[in-house]
Amino acid sequence: MKKRLLTGLQPSGELTIGNYIGSIKQVVNYAKEYDTFLFVPDMHSITVPQDPVALHRRVREIVGMYLACGVSGVENHIYIQSEIPEHANLSWILECTAYMGELSRMTQYKAKTENKKEKEIRCGLFTYPVLMAADILLYNAHYVPTGIDQKQHVELARNLAQRFNAKFGETFVVPEPLIPQVGAKIRDLLDPEKKMSKSAENPKASVFLSDSEKDIRKKIMGAVTDSGDKVCFDEVNKPGVSNLLTIYSVFKNITIPEAEAHFENARYGDLKKEVAEVLVENLTSLQDRYAEVMKSGLVDETLDRGRDYASAIARETYRTARLRVGLGRD
Ligand code: TYM
Repeated sequence: MKKRLLTGLQPSGELTIGNYIGSIKQVVNYAKEYDTFLFVPDMHSITVPQDPVALHRRVREIVGMYLACGVSGVENHIYIQSEIPEHANLSWILECTAYMGELSRMTQYKAKTENKKEKEIRCGLFTYPVLMAADILLYNAHYVPTGIDQKQHVELARNLAQRFNAKFGETFVVPEPLIPQVGAKIRDLLDPEKKMSKSAENPKASVFLSDSEKDIRKKIMGAVTDSGDKVCFDEVNKPGVSNLLTIYSVFKNITIPEAEAHFENARYGDLKKEVAEVLVENLTSLQDRYAEVMKSGLVDETLDRGRDYASAIARETYRTARLRVGLGRD
């Protein structure tokens, strides 16, 4: 039997090339090898304020993007988290095994709550990594492909699985994160110390998968580079240039040394022009496929099929976990 692979993309903003490189591209590569579960963690998104109409729209957009990127909705299981109540149910059981201390140490929680007033921080933001653990453990996923920013959360899922198994008997598969060697952290174009994010305040800092040709070129040409003028990969001293080289190599399907060799005698301006070019080429054809998908009935068909398949597994795992803990009736 194929091993299971699972991952999710939050509908908390427009998808960026960071999401594409750190997650979608990996999934496209792995999908043939593994029994693949892809879901839209919409319950995660309401840990910060959301416009309900936009949230509904984005859930469908994410599914459309997966399909447009070449992920089959027939061979893989694509579904929406909130349509399977066992995610929240298992999350509660796991919350009752998780410690305040380990959740307080989550770097994403610390970053998202920095300089925030008490009333601006929702409890859900604190317990969110436990819900993420439930997302993974519910399907007994072996592998979880993500960017580097989610590694700590997958490690929590491992810890919670091991703790539960030790106390209540073997119940969950202990998942492993799969972090790409190249592109695990695509950086913000204006501040290369930060990761590129869907929810960045300045839209010029991120290239969105839906950006127009004009915007892609403007954003890349405006990207912050580093001192010096040699194009080479050095994430410590040249994070901006290294980021552009990474984007180039991923979209050209070549290695970083190959990209460095290509730009050996080039200036930063030449690098930017070619990065913009390869992005325009790839994203405009992706957008054409996306428009086709959104016109068809494929999104709903995929989601109905995915929900039915996933919920049967979720019900079974949740039932086992509930009984092991002593809840409800057999
Ligand atoms: P999210 O929605 O923030 O990001 C989705 C995926 O994209 C990756 N990613 C990046 N990779 C490289 N460079 C970047 N700049 C970049 N930005 C984002 C993320 O690592 C992620 O793989 N909590 C998760 C969603 C989630 C989930 C799960 C993932 C909920 N439950 C269970 C896996 C398994 C999140 O907020 O990802």
